[in-house]
Amino acid sequence: MALKFNAPSDPTYRTEADIAKINEDPGFGVHFTDHMARIDWSEDEGWVDPRLIEYGPIPMDPAGAVFHYAQEAFEGLKAYHREDGSIWLFRPERNAARFFNSSKRLALPQLPVDDFVQAVRELTRLDARWVPKEGEKSLYLRPFSIATESFLGVRPSKTVAFCVIASPVGAYFSGGVKPVDIWVESHLSRVSNGGTGDAKCGGNYAASLVPEETAFAHGCNQVMFVDNAEHRWVEELGGMNFLMITKNDELVTPPLNGNILPGVTRDSLLTIAPEMGLKPVERPIDIAEVYAGMDDGTISELFACGTAAVVTPIGSLTNEQGRHDMAVPADGGRTIALRNYLLDVQYGRREDTRGWTQRV
Ligand code: COI
Repeated sequence: MALKFNAPSDPTYRTEADIAKINEDPGFGVHFTDHMARIDWSEDEGWVDPRLIEYGPIPMDPAGAVFHYAQEAFEGLKAYHREDGSIWLFRPERNAARFFNSSKRLALPQLPVDDFVQAVRELTRLDARWVPKEGEKSLYLRPFSIATESFLGVRPSKTVAFCVIASPVGAYFSGGVKPVDIWVESHLSRVSNGGTGDAKCGGNYAASLVPEETAFAHGCNQVMFVDNAEHRWVEELGGMNFLMITKNDELVTPPLNGNILPGVTRDSLLTIAPEMGLKPVERPIDIAEVYAGMDDGTISELFACGTAAVVTPIGSLTNEQGRHDMAVPADGGRTIALRNYLLDVQYGRREDTRGWTQRV
């Protein structure tokens, strides 16, 4: 289905000065652009009425299914401003494919990949002046589908809205790319076997909030989840994947076992690893092995990755038994080299040999 977006007639709401001020220090996810994209779906008509509209509230009945049963899925991707003034997306079709799968798991209608990408491209183009021009900032795009039917019975909604909103962003963690401290949660789970762990849906993130508060209470920045059955196998952090670099040059991360979000950044890092002298390894990681490796030096670096977090070094892991520190190399080590590789491709400072980037 070819979608035609009808842009509002006046695309200028905030002044250039307003936007420049916001983009000096945008934070993460606190400012939103002038417009949003929206496509509606109904059981009878399928996907209809693709449009670009002013950013604003979504009027909904209080009985709307999403409010009660959390039938929703979302994505996160970024648009990057290059030095020559052009704007680029990074592997948007991967996000579109993941959204397709998440939607299936949440019994939501599956938006075709091309329509997802077009919606993202059209919104980015319309709000291009919002894409930050300086530093490692970007325009974070948040596509999502929500169940809009007013009905309290538990079954898939017969009406759904797909929207894309956009937010200029800087670093996800307020300290920038400084190493983060991680709390290893040993009681509560983010997901369980057969659950929605590999879908990007709000419920997974809601389930991470109480453990995240525990992390904050222990002076940590993020929570790490281990498996729900044995409380032993590393899965992922509250909103990002986990990777480690070993002394014998392996880049190790847990396999996609159904409980882990198939991160686009994760996949990109595993793909570029050989170019950086690292062997990509996807295998179960015992949390005890991580503590031992940190203590005896067989693990040289730990980091988190995701669209929002990019690549963020991990400085320590703490659990109820105590804290294990990671000596983070002064130059950031291979973690920062991996980070820079990706950012250089995204901002066009390094040749994109894999066709990962596309101009908006
Ligand atoms: C992303 O990285 O895009 C996410 O959705 C994670 C969230 C912590 C912002």
